[in-house]
Amino acid sequence: MCGIFGYIGHRKSAAEIVLEGLKVLEYRGYDSWGIALLESKTDETKIIVKKKVGKIGDAKISDLPAGHFAFGHTRWATHGGVTEINAHPHLDCTSQFALIHNGIIENYDEIKKELEKKGHRFISETDTEVAVHLIEDNYKQLVTVYQDRQTAFRESVRKAFKRFAGLSAIIVMDSKTNTFVAVKNGSPLVIGKGEGENLLASDAHALFPYTRQVYFMEDDELVMIDKEAISVYRLDTGRSKTVQFAVLNWKSSNVQKGRFPHFMLKEIFDQPQVLQEIIHHAGGQVETLHKLIKHSYGTYLVGCGTAAYACLAGTYLFSKIAKRHIKFSVGSEFGYLVDFLTDKSLVIALSQSGETIDVIEAVKKAKEKKSKIGSLVNVEGSTLYRISDTPLLLGAGVEKAVVSTKAFTAKLAYLILVAYSLAENPAEGKKALLTSYKAVNKVLEETNLKIIRKLAKELIKKDHIYIIGRGLSFPVTLETALKIKEASYLHAEGFAAGELKHGAIALVEKNTPCIVFLPNDETYGASLAGAMEMKARGGKIIGISYKPHEIFDEFLSFDDCGAASIIPAAVIGQLLGYYLAIARGIDPDKPRNLAKSVTVK
Ligand code: F6R
Repeated sequence: MCGIFGYIGHRKSAAEIVLEGLKVLEYRGYDSWGIALLESKTDETKIIVKKKVGKIGDAKISDLPAGHFAFGHTRWATHGGVTEINAHPHLDCTSQFALIHNGIIENYDEIKKELEKKGHRFISETDTEVAVHLIEDNYKQLVTVYQDRQTAFRESVRKAFKRFAGLSAIIVMDSKTNTFVAVKNGSPLVIGKGEGENLLASDAHALFPYTRQVYFMEDDELVMIDKEAISVYRLDTGRSKTVQFAVLNWKSSNVQKGRFPHFMLKEIFDQPQVLQEIIHHAGGQVETLHKLIKHSYGTYLVGCGTAAYACLAGTYLFSKIAKRHIKFSVGSEFGYLVDFLTDKSLVIALSQSGETIDVIEAVKKAKEKKSKIGSLVNVEGSTLYRISDTPLLLGAGVEKAVVSTKAFTAKLAYLILVAYSLAENPAEGKKALLTSYKAVNKVLEETNLKIIRKLAKELIKKDHIYIIGRGLSFPVTLETALKIKEASYLHAEGFAAGELKHGAIALVEKNTPCIVFLPNDETYGASLAGAMEMKARGGKIIGISYKPHEIFDEFLSFDDCGAASIIPAAVIGQLLGYYLAIARGIDPDKPRNLAKSVTVK
């Protein structure tokens, strides 16, 4: 869940190149960052490290000298607090090696104790630091075994990595041989081949200013990189292997906020266009998913966070519209539910980034059972995209805000179209989406935004917000609560309205804000009854509905769009999250403690 970028080559501005690369990757983690540069003077060669706590933003590094060899890291803390010392890169005792890491070394404690006994000095609280000291330790022995220092370095890294438990990627810089060694299992790494220069990064898009010729590292591979050459080895045997580089022609992702103060708001406003694209261009992909589901014996949806709520909505949509029982699990629980999978099962993974480790792991488990893997993913070429048998693109455009919005809408739109297609009524699906497109445009009108802004200003005075809904609205309650929590840090909880009386109603006091989703469907009466029960206990009722009702203290409206009403309803929830963040002075594009891609367990 960290961003990694490395450069070695003919340009003298390696540190600046790395800094710009890290800015592209900042979505992967932004609590601190660091860069290591090899400074080469005629009399000595030494690694200079610069680290900072906080976001990279507009950081400049004019204090670093020229150099041809550098790498850097944006951190999302796992072991050890957010401090400069804990930021990567980390150095060994001799400062010959610098190392950056993405992932977790689960057995670091035992290795650390062993190295401390041998006299290694640790200065950080991280698991990562053991890696660089273990490599130093291995190197001391192996440099006497191998004549050539590059081989000794490579083998030292290989031997160290084989000892680590857990999923990681590490990159090591050796100041003696001017070489990087990268090795991974789990976390993504992409190697870029240029002219007289080579690069590596966690995400191919960061390499595009320099090269489009890339190699996506496989798990349990080790890559050695210098200015001229890139060599790939097997982690288990250390033997070299031949790999093919691909030339990527994906669009560059340099999107800007334009007239919007934040990416989150821009992306909320992108949604009508996302819907329009899907209405007009999704036909082929919908047909593919339809066929996959029809020919499978059991379909399972899997995703995390917002994507998980889209999956949950999928179970209701498929039941209601297509009369199909489709199961769902959050990614991190899927591994405990795989015993029933067979080679006839279909797993459809939903993910914006395509890099969420819990989803990737779920898919790998399903692959072990020989199940078919379909995916709906927003980032082309991402790990999920590459490991799926049938990867389909959401086409929501680049989503930069950490808080996911338009990717959710795109997932819902696809699930609605596929459900109607399975019901042999694709035209009805398109019609519903077209109505939702109009309804979202209406939700985004200034008169409506004004009401939401005013409500947000009142709600920031509260400690808790409860949200209820039934049926298709239940996933929307969960998603709205998530938007409010992550963007504004206010406590919000979504409940199935019927569950309220089984415990949660004890939380309702005088003036507790209670949001109720009331679409024009079979849930209306029963959810309204839930709202009345809250009102009877002093709750302040905020109705999100297609029509007003006398029990509402506040009313946010959306036009009825049948099953697709979940789309404008969810957009109201997103706007509430956004304006609550603004009213509390929080940057909703980069909320604390979060990262856009969750690549650690
Ligand atoms: C919420 C949010 C997260 C992601 C989750 C899965 O706003 O952004 O909950 O939805 O981390 O991410 P993807 O969709 O990239 O797999």
